[in-house]
Amino acid sequence: MACENGGFIHPDTCMSTPFRIAPSILSADFARLGEEVRDVIQAGADWIHFDVMDNHYVPNLTFGPMVCQALKPHARRADGRPVPIDVHLMIQPVDALAGAFIDAGADLVSFHPDASAHVHRSVQAIKARGCQAGLTFNPAQPLDVLDWVIDDIDLILIMSVNPGFGGQSFIDSALRKIEQARRRIEASGKDIRLEVDGGIKADNIRRVADAGADTFVAGSAIFGKPDYKAVIDSMRAALA
Ligand code: DX5
Ligand code: ZN
Repeated sequence: MACENGGFIHPDTCMSTPFRIAPSILSADFARLGEEVRDVIQAGADWIHFDVMDNHYVPNLTFGPMVCQALKPHARRADGRPVPIDVHLMIQPVDALAGAFIDAGADLVSFHPDASAHVHRSVQAIKARGCQAGLTFNPAQPLDVLDWVIDDIDLILIMSVNPGFGGQSFIDSALRKIEQARRRIEASGKDIRLEVDGGIKADNIRRVADAGADTFVAGSAIFGKPDYKAVIDSMRAALA
């Protein structure tokens, strides 16, 4: 496969898929969320990653559909084009709130298969509402369920930290799972995004991309820093 640079490198590392940076608002200033969303989009964010936690499935509590609805008008580029809101449900049960987030403007909804009693039905319910559906895998969660639903999903989200908090360190075993997930995507022949969430920084994002990821959640690497664009630009430079 020829790549942008004209050179020939192994198809596994020359991905035609564009990379995406998805800042997680978990690490944003909750007192200024609308402004934070506008600022990080202006700094080059491709998606807004919206971490939903219920203090049941994970030991933390964040925000609900009303906050997603309030942020939706701010998730736009300068030219008015919408920026996808990528809702990551760390909740149990899944189905009722998945629908509420879709009504609130979610463009993608991903959930943990171990948090749903009927994974295939939960995926069907999200897709039936015209929303993209994803499955999220914790560090010790195998990918086996993909055997039966990979043809129905649009996104695979690999957790490289244990869900619940920002600012944690990247768990290296996630790299092997990313490679496995990339092989499954290629075997499926489907256009599925491979997103990684947790501990992503400018100094490790290339390693995560080389394992096969194309979409990168970053919370504490971006929010709280003085220059969002400088951080996002450094991530893109590492991916180039
Ligand atoms: C964990 C959250 C975090 C967050 C990213 O439940 O999902 O992974 O999005 O946080 P950082 O980038 O600070 O690890
Ligand atoms: Zn997340």
